[in-house]
Amino acid sequence: MLFKLKFKSEGDYISFKENSSLIKFFVDSDQLKNQLDNFFESLGLKISELQKNNFLDKKNDVLTYYNNEGEPSIIFLKKVKLDKEFNCDFFRNYFAGLIPSLVNKKLKELHIVTPILEPFKNYFDSIDYLIQTILEGIALGNYTFDKYKSDKKNPEDLLVSIHFTDSAIVKRIIESSEKIMSAVYFARDLVNEPSAVLTPLEFARRTKLELQKYGLSVKIFDEKELKKRKMNAILTVGKGSKNKPCMIVIHYKPEIKTRRKIVLVGKGVTYDSGGLSIKPTGSMIDMKADMSGGALVVGVIKAAAQLKMPVELIGIIPAVENMPGGNSYKPGDVIISASGKSIEVKDTDAEGRIILADALYYASQQKPDEIIDFATLTGACAVALGEIAAGLFTSYDELAERLLKAGFKTYERLWRMPFWNDYKSMIKSEIADVANLGPRWGGAITAGKFLEHFVDEKIPWAHIDIAGPAIKHRANNYTHKYDTAFGVRLMIEYLRSL
Ligand code: BES
Ligand code: MG
Ligand code: ZN
Repeated sequence: MLFKLKFKSEGDYISFKENSSLIKFFVDSDQLKNQLDNFFESLGLKISELQKNNFLDKKNDVLTYYNNEGEPSIIFLKKVKLDKEFNCDFFRNYFAGLIPSLVNKKLKELHIVTPILEPFKNYFDSIDYLIQTILEGIALGNYTFDKYKSDKKNPEDLLVSIHFTDSAIVKRIIESSEKIMSAVYFARDLVNEPSAVLTPLEFARRTKLELQKYGLSVKIFDEKELKKRKMNAILTVGKGSKNKPCMIVIHYKPEIKTRRKIVLVGKGVTYDSGGLSIKPTGSMIDMKADMSGGALVVGVIKAAAQLKMPVELIGIIPAVENMPGGNSYKPGDVIISASGKSIEVKDTDAEGRIILADALYYASQQKPDEIIDFATLTGACAVALGEIAAGLFTSYDELAERLLKAGFKTYERLWRMPFWNDYKSMIKSEIADVANLGPRWGGAITAGKFLEHFVDEKIPWAHIDIAGPAIKHRANNYTHKYDTAFGVRLMIEYLRSL
């Protein structure tokens, strides 16, 4: 953390003291000059004509005003143009970029004047969500993973005062956003932890330790239990590593009666070296985050429990380390999965779909209303969509619509991919029921089709390939430093929308 943040709902009135900063947005309009004059007058501050004119000038969109020389109070005025460049991530992204720039500025308080919804109606469905994106941006910009740095500083205190007419609304949003963001932080800490520390069993241990705080049941199927349940797909991929595989099963059952039971499945490969079909170094560097799907599931259930959401959730995370070694599984091997279906191994680097076979079969046995799985499954999906969207694969249109909608709202976007049955024939095997590798083209889709073999066809199911957006990338101010734990906000919004 850069700052020790404290959020406060403050109503309209601003008491602007020294060592403070204030941020206000102006929608670019003809009235800008008057608004600017009124604003400075209301704070009792004077601003030079030159500065004012520069801001009003078309080219400038920020005004940074230092309150008296040497005094560390800063006012940021930001002009917002509602043009093609504007999108519903604007405030989140802006604050995520601003927060790191405030370090060492001796600030004690940050005032934020929230805009009114009216001009932004096309981008936000409520003022609540607009304000939520501001709070998320601040929290995301404040996130650090610096536990292995020796020169880290103690975070400074910073009071964040949110100014909005209805302070009760803001108070409520502060409370819920803090729960969501603490889940994002927890998931991020998991994905950024090096695999030497975060082995499958350590992943399970941390998950249990955290989720037990909220009264959730967390079961860990160890090697013995996996054997008993004939989960040979998970066991086989895990064979090459001295770090034993396991499966994490989380259950959130609210006290009130619920209408829906949803299973969330997440790929939990704590390290993917590729196994004997070993990856080149350049492709291996990010593979500590190959458990991002699992981390997302943990995060979503943590937040859902804290928010007391009225939906029953089961989280299933098969956790393994994919390593080459004398005991590794090999191309040419055949695995009898828990479902009884056999899998021909053609490439040990297509390991995610293998472990998910057992997890999805177990998920189906829970007889839920729907199953959604998340996996950093294929480079092919990242090739297709880049890093700013995850691939959505499903035959259920209504489920797809709901997921896509939550994606656009949270800016953790999904893009629906074709999922026709024509792709299914591409992963036929001569010696087993299905092969874990198809032809070169359409690799993200054939991977999805492989998974389909293990899901009960009566249960609505969606597969989400997060290989692109889960890994750190330059798309915006809150994804470029650390692996992202993509999907936690998306799925909280999805669950809220039900
Ligand atoms: N974990 C990788 C996919 C991946 C790639 C995730 C890049 C994040 C960023 C997965 O296990 C894998 O290795 N997939 C192979 C599949 C291939 C062997 C069919 C790939 O994408 O190359
Ligand atoms: Mg792999
Ligand atoms: Zn993988």
